[in-house]
Amino acid sequence: MSILIKNGRIITATDDYTADIFIEGETIKAIGIDLNMTADQIIDASGKLVMPGGIDPHVHLDMPFMGTYSSDNYETGTRAALYGGTTTVIDFVLQTQGKSLQSALQEWKGRSDNNAVSDYSFHMAVTDFNEETKVEIRHFIENEGITSFKTFMAYKGALMIDDRQMIGLMEEVKKHGGLINVHATNGDMIDYLIQKHRSEGKLAPLYHYLSQPEVTEAEASERFVDMANYTGCPGYIVHLTCEGALNAVRNATRRNQNVFVETCIQYLLLDASLYEQNFEGAKWVMSPPLREKKDQETLWAGLNQGLVNVVATDHCPFMWEQKLIGVDDFSKIPNGHPAIENRMELLFSEGVNKGRITLNKYVEVASTNAAKIFGMFPKKGTIAVGSDADIVIFDANETHTLSAKTHHMNVDYSGYEGWEVKGKVKTVLLRGKIAIDNNECKISKGYGQFVKRNKVQGMI
Ligand code: URP
Ligand code: ZN
Ligand code: ZN
Repeated sequence: MSILIKNGRIITATDDYTADIFIEGETIKAIGIDLNMTADQIIDASGKLVMPGGIDPHVHLDMPFMGTYSSDNYETGTRAALYGGTTTVIDFVLQTQGKSLQSALQEWKGRSDNNAVSDYSFHMAVTDFNEETKVEIRHFIENEGITSFKTFMAYKGALMIDDRQMIGLMEEVKKHGGLINVHATNGDMIDYLIQKHRSEGKLAPLYHYLSQPEVTEAEASERFVDMANYTGCPGYIVHLTCEGALNAVRNATRRNQNVFVETCIQYLLLDASLYEQNFEGAKWVMSPPLREKKDQETLWAGLNQGLVNVVATDHCPFMWEQKLIGVDDFSKIPNGHPAIENRMELLFSEGVNKGRITLNKYVEVASTNAAKIFGMFPKKGTIAVGSDADIVIFDANETHTLSAKTHHMNVDYSGYEGWEVKGKVKTVLLRGKIAIDNNECKISKGYGQFVKRNKVQGMI
């Protein structure tokens, strides 16, 4: 099967030009002006943007969490990702404390194998670092193609590891060419504040926010970058939300250490005033919580300063009925918010169309940097000869309204209900196949492949 995309405006993290793209099989074979190859199918992309498929390196599909499961499974979640222009996602395998990394991987494969529509990969979340876990690290990096290891400095009693384990893990991961991802908030402080609020009868979603003040994130981010600096291990802070935490990274970069930062679309666009409305605020109960307007400013600036490298989603949807588990106690509300389908269009509309970031920066933070940081570049994350033909054809001017009535995520509310968005995904190609066209998904579950990732270079 061959496809010729004609006359599109091709945007990568560095380039902006009009040309044709010839695709044969799964990869891009040629790029040029007025290509005269014969193809099975021709797509006219005149007047449209042609960009690399989005990469969302932070999603939770079918994840057992807080007594329930995130409501998008591999099929629904990866299909929704494609509708929104994301062609590759990276999910988190969670080790069960007391069990091996390998047994967790088998459990996740049981849910993902033959079910994904988009391409996907895994980070391995280490929740119990000990002598047995230690010997598994090398195998994951060298044989499984899983080169990033997630750690939680919070969720005390469930997922959190202590600094002793963190240092040991960092040394092992560095030795074999991997990277540590971190949920950097101070778990002990948060645990204390949650119990304090509960004992005072303060049980509304607002107290989720008040139990995780900025200092809990700033402190843990600084501690993490110091440990990463000491061990020399490349680090990646997931879902960074605030000025205090970003300033910790700003200081770290003065000593030239390898630490990358991800924020998520919700932290750029939404703020903590959403918690001031009784239980409705549960829609946005996530960790860390939404912050203040001044933090949004910091994050947008951080993108342009090259300090914030990736915009992800932390997609972790729960049906409203699941959120109601915490109707009498904010600490029981399953943490997470749906966005896998909305990220690319929202970032374009609020970022590019409102003049906050350039088109090149958009591609960089929505696709290219994640591919580079996580060992998938240039197979993924760019439009180049030899790269996978993961391509989004995008109308920069079409407006539409986000709603749970029309989205494809398996969740019965939208965190962005009624938002007017300027910019629309029209056609998506995944490894040379038309995946989305005219609001219709053309591929089935099982087409999505697991992406084995390379060792991490710690540079982008
Ligand atoms: O609220 C969140 N973020 N839920 C998913 C788990 C995590 O901490 O990333
Ligand atoms: Zn987290
Ligand atoms: Zn997460």
